[in-house]
Amino acid sequence: MEDKRRLISPAPQNDDNDRAVESLRPSRLCDYIGQEKVVSELKIYLEAVKQRNESLDHILFYGPPGLGKTTLAYIIAHELDIFIESTSGPALEHPGDIAAILTNLGRRDALFIDEIHRLNRVVEEKLYPAMEDFRLDLVMGQGPAARVIPLDLEPFTLIGATTRFGALSSPLRDRFGIIFRLDFYSVEELEKVVLRTADILNIETDTAGAREIAARSRGTPRIANRLLRRVRDFAQVTSDGTITQSIVSKALGVMEIDDHGLDPMDRRLLKIIARNYGGGPVGIDTLATALMEDRETIEDVYEPYLIQLGFLHRTSRGRMLSPSAFQFMGIPRPSAYLSPELPFDTDS
Ligand code: ADE
Repeated sequence: MEDKRRLISPAPQNDDNDRAVESLRPSRLCDYIGQEKVVSELKIYLEAVKQRNESLDHILFYGPPGLGKTTLAYIIAHELDIFIESTSGPALEHPGDIAAILTNLGRRDALFIDEIHRLNRVVEEKLYPAMEDFRLDLVMGQGPAARVIPLDLEPFTLIGATTRFGALSSPLRDRFGIIFRLDFYSVEELEKVVLRTADILNIETDTAGAREIAARSRGTPRIANRLLRRVRDFAQVTSDGTITQSIVSKALGVMEIDDHGLDPMDRRLLKIIARNYGGGPVGIDTLATALMEDRETIEDVYEPYLIQLGFLHRTSRGRMLSPSAFQFMGIPRPSAYLSPELPFDTDS
């Protein structure tokens, strides 16, 4: 299982959810940094439904954790001045759970379902007519005497979020009118996020310090904000409280987070492929066993950023390291090693 205390994990952690941190979230699109294409398209759709006084089409956000899917859902509600109910795929165990939520939504309200790929089949099937026709099919009685009673719902917007677009069934995917993929943030964008958060929390930060945090935050605002809070502790205790590049380097050195934002677990993953499997290809299940980690965590949490860095490739034959990963680790490439960057089939 993934260690939830891992500092650079993009998954939410206990202290990410407290009120102080929640209040860091921008509540308006104009305060949202990054994801420019998504934001500019979204602005148009929001303006259009406001003008027509209609509910927004169902909308799906997908991409690695920590990039702002939940934040965007709440921004939508704020911008449209509607109520938003929030739940998650695994929390909806029975059809009755989703029925209770949907019947309580008012006209144009939103339902946010995080980890929507983890909905069970029965609950998911309840959603189909609700999304398509704003209708809930209530089943009364059991066995041959069971009857289906259709119940009209108010027009609402389902906002789904997932880290695994491919795990969504196509009937569910097809019912979203708007689908956005969120990408990793650039260092420049994360620097702005760090400076914005530092400003809200009254943390003295110079530009080089903010940039150093940004560069080591794996393209992920949630990680940038978490590192900022940890570095603040170092700055406060070991110097005058100001976050500078040298304080960031010292603090992250102690936390074993390197210049690329990789931690010991990432480096272990790369080393295992290099040393035990000659740079790959190695199957994901074999890798999961070697790392004693579950496959989904490796796929959703570790790999996306290693792929983004160009260190790892997903190929049809398994995971492979790039020559730059060997260079990064200072490990010589084995003679039988074939670079995944040579032209052959890749599926990532
Ligand atoms: N805090 C976390 N993510 C943010 C973003 N994308 N824009 C502004 N502030 C943020």
